[in-house]
Amino acid sequence: MKVTNNIQDIRHMRWQQPAATWGLVPTMGFLHEGHISLVRRARAENDFVAATIYVNPTQFAPTEDLSTYPRDLPHDLALLEAAGADLVFTPDDSIMYPAGFQTYVTVEEVTRVLEGASRPTHFRGVTTIVAKLFNLIQPTRAYFGQKDYQQTAVLRQMVTDLNFNLDMIICPTVREADGLAMSSRNKYLDPAQRAGATVLSRTLAAGVAALQAGERDANRLRAMMQAMIAAEPLARLDYISVAHPRTLAELVEVADEAVLSTAVFFHRTRLIDNMLWQESQS
Ligand code: PAJ
Repeated sequence: MKVTNNIQDIRHMRWQQPAATWGLVPTMGFLHEGHISLVRRARAENDFVAATIYVNPTQFAPTEDLSTYPRDLPHDLALLEAAGADLVFTPDDSIMYPAGFQTYVTVEEVTRVLEGASRPTHFRGVTTIVAKLFNLIQPTRAYFGQKDYQQTAVLRQMVTDLNFNLDMIICPTVREADGLAMSSRNKYLDPAQRAGATVLSRTLAAGVAALQAGERDANRLRAMMQAMIAAEPLARLDYISVAHPRTLAELVEVADEAVLSTAVFFHRTRLIDNMLWQESQS
């Protein structure tokens, strides 16, 4: 496994065998089983696997946790090596945003709701860094987790609109045994908050169960899920959503598919989760 922060190294390795397929797994490091599931899937589907580890400053607002975002490069590299990565790109800010940098990628409507409403500059940072990584590595396939559902919808839109020549592969959310979606931010939770944090997955699962039982009124669904989150004393709701899976527009009545998503604060820690429901699968 080659580890480098050098763009020439990346280009050289990528084009040594021009016909080979490459899978790309972009990450911000502090890797857990959720990230590694993407690497394994990429390993199974491509000749070569590249992972990137970069805590991207442009997707954090000044009030967010950029400086305290957890990092553990040696552990990350051990996990990536064990999962079969061939190349790990570990750039720093001087490589990704050198002095004079002034070009950003902005996806419009689908970034304005949900995470984008709470974090207005976030997706511009995500699309800009991912577009740069796509240009640098030119993967055949790029792997992202459903955990960050809106991120996948925004990036799909970018890939379509900017004609990136790659397949987006969205992988299922990996969860702890009690249902909590794995996240680097879970480590900020104290034991009581950690116990309460199962309210996200319990609430979304109850929403999916109601849809399966025939509920189609999105306002009733939102009210039911909101009440479940309100019943958890340590949780403070940011949003609860019943939306169209592609546009993320809030639904009035659910037809044959919906994405249920929520963001919840436990003191200063903000957790997100989502579940997709499709009539054909129920
Ligand atoms: P990061 O939060 O490190 O996540 C990297 C990838 O791992 C994302 O595609 C994310 O959805 C996926 N992931 C995280 N937790 C997961 C889980 N429990 N199950 C399945 N997949 C999971 O998302 C980012 O970094 C950044 O925004 C990035 C795309 C790297 C751009 O900077």
